Parts: sequence; structure tokens; C-alpha cells
Amino acid sequence: MTCSIFSNYNIGNLNLDNRIVMAPMTRGFADNETGEVNYLIADYYGKRARYGAGLIITEGIAINELAKGTFGIPGIYTHSQTLSWQKVTREVHQYKTKIFAQLWHVGRLSHQKVLGGHAPVSPSSLAANGFVHRLRHPYQTPKSLSKQEIYSIIDDYKIAARNAMEAGFDGIEIHAAHGYLIDQFINEKTNLRKDEFGGSLKNRLRFLDLIIKQVKKVVPKNRISIRISEKKDDDKDYTWEQPEEIVLAIIEVLTKHKIKIVHPSVENYDYALKNDKRSLHELFRQYWDHTIIAVGNIDPDKGSSIINKKQADLVAFGQLFISNPDLVIRLKAKQEIFPYNTKNQLTCLN
Ligand SMILES: Cc1cc2nc3c(=O)[nH]c(=O)nc-3n(C[C@H](O)[C@H](O)[C@H](O)COP(=O)(O)O)c2cc1C
Repeated sequence: MTCSIFSNYNIGNLNLDNRIVMAPMTRGFADNETGEVNYLIADYYGKRARYGAGLIITEGIAINELAKGTFGIPGIYTHSQTLSWQKVTREVHQYKTKIFAQLWHVGRLSHQKVLGGHAPVSPSSLAANGFVHRLRHPYQTPKSLSKQEIYSIIDDYKIAARNAMEAGFDGIEIHAAHGYLIDQFINEKTNLRKDEFGGSLKNRLRFLDLIIKQVKKVVPKNRISIRISEKKDDDKDYTWEQPEEIVLAIIEVLTKHKIKIVHPSVENYDYALKNDKRSLHELFRQYWDHTIIAVGNIDPDKGSSIINKKQADLVAFGQLFISNPDLVIRLKAKQEIFPYNTKNQLTCLN
């Protein structure tokens, strides 16, 4: 049977109307003081649902007060933040679209000016290169986390995940990509720890492993997606020396926990990994029979071909979903798709 991006799909006993996913995208429109989301944000997600998105993955949502990397980032660690997300899930569910909350901690990619005077945290006390989004200050040297603090953050993931369920989300995505906190543990360059959270790859994956273990207690395991990437937002030249070894070790953790969804994040779906002839998706598909969400500069034709060839099960669009709230309608009708315009898109939410 041939499949298209418009064929339905079952994910964690949720029936998706089609294979089209709205990729997680930080927009910076939450209340900076409270971390709550408002009706404008509910309307923004609601519109993409009304026009038929199969699944929406929200922007990164902070799991605690030190998890934010810039201004206007929503949270899901207080009661009022949790309630505010109900506006979004209610709006989206009116149209039968499903929605996952992306749980996020930026670790060292932040600044005390964003964190109410607190230093950013990371596995080791090493500053990132580059500048804090919107603030344009260089990244600060982070505080190295004590073991007690690590366990407390793991607990915060569980609380955030439970709050996400209370807010009416259908599932969650753990953001373990792009050089943020979980990735700072996985990356040998940013994790110089000598304890059980550093050193071997197995140890560096322990933080992710323990987060999944806790989160699984409050979210059905087949509704947990894990986002992984070689690319780091603060280190454009970063390369996995042994991509296959990393991917296999990640799959081992996911298999142990019976996690069924991966979302390998790349700039361009077709690009091979820097040290491997294959792309990250190919590598996952070779060893992974469960759901893969494809992403990265995918156009409509490419999306259909990915699904047809079973290279992935779902196709996520990022920037095109910002410039075309009615992307699914346009894809179905083969209408013009408007290109993403960075300047306009960062100043208004529509
Ligand atoms: C404005 C913007 C914000 C983004 N924020 C996030 C985010 O919060 N979490 C995340 O995992 N990826 C984020 N991304 C990456 C996207 O999810 C996606 O992987 C990327 O845009 C590539 O897909 P595309 O070529 O279809 O846009 C963001 C991308 C953009 C353009």
C-alpha cells in the first residue's frame, strides 16, 4: 500500500489525520515575568490545527526557572503556567489535531540577566562560544552542577511532564538536541565530569536515561518523543567522531525504556553526517523500526518521497509552518507556499 503525507498514522494510540507535523519553534511571545502563554499563542497553534496539521510539537518549554535561554520563553513548572497551556491544548483539540509539549532546559546557553541573577548551569564549568539570543551578551561561564542538583533537575523534568499531562497535552518531546543541557551531558567536549555522569558514552547518556525513567512514570511511554542532533547551536563545527556508536547507544537507552518516537534534528534532511556517508535519518532507520519524524529543509515533494520510501513515518515542517499557517491546505491543493521571512516572522505572531 502506498502512503502519502496525507495518510493517517497511529502514534501511541493516537490517530493522526495525516503525517504532517509542525516542528517545535521558539517564538518568544510568552509573558516574560510569569512564563505563561496567552490567547494569542493559543490562536497561533489553533490556526495550524484548524488548517489540518496532524501533530504539533510546541516550542521549547522551560522545565524550571533556570531552563530559559532568552526572554519570552514559556514555562510549565508552576500551576499558573500549566493552566495557561490549557488554553492552547483546548484550542488545538477542537480540530482533532494532537499536540506534544517540548520540554527544554538550555543549560549553559543562557545568562544571569535572563535567569533573574542566577548563573546558568551545565555538567562542567565551560562557557559556550557565541551570544545569548535577543540579549546579545556573550554566553556566561556556567556553574557546574552538583550531583544533588542533577537529581533535582531530573525531578523537575518529571514534574514538568506531569504538568504537561494536566495541561491536556497528548504527549511530550524531550529536547536532547542542539547543544542544550541534555546534549551538554552527551557531548564529550562540554562534559568533563569524573563521576557517573561523565567519562564513557554510557555515563554521558545517564542524565537522559534517568530523565526518561522519571518522565515515563507520568506520561505513557509510547507518547514520548526524543529529539537528537549532531548539530549544536553554539558550535557550528561540532562533529560526532563516531556517529554510529552514538546513535546505537541512544537507541539502546530508548529500547530499554520502550520509547517509540525519535526526532533526529538536522539542518537538511539529505545531508550526510560529517563523519559518515549516511544522514542521521538513514542511520536511525537502519536500526530503528519505530516512529521517525523527518525534518530539515523539506519541501512538499521531498516530504512525499520520504513517506513513500518509508525513510521516515512523519514529516515535520518548521519555517514553512510560520509563513503558511494553512500549510496543510496549501499542500493538498498544490497552492503556492510562501517562503519564510526571518525579519517579519520574529516580530509578529500570526
Ligand atoms: C524560529 C525557530 C525557532 C526554533 N525553535 C526550536 C525549538 O524551540 N526547539 C527545537 O527543538 N527546535 C527549534 N527549531 C528548529 C526547528 O524545529 C526545525 O528543526 C528547523 O527549523 C528545520 O526545519 P525547517 O527547515 O522545516 O524549518 C527552531 C527553528 C526556528 C526557525
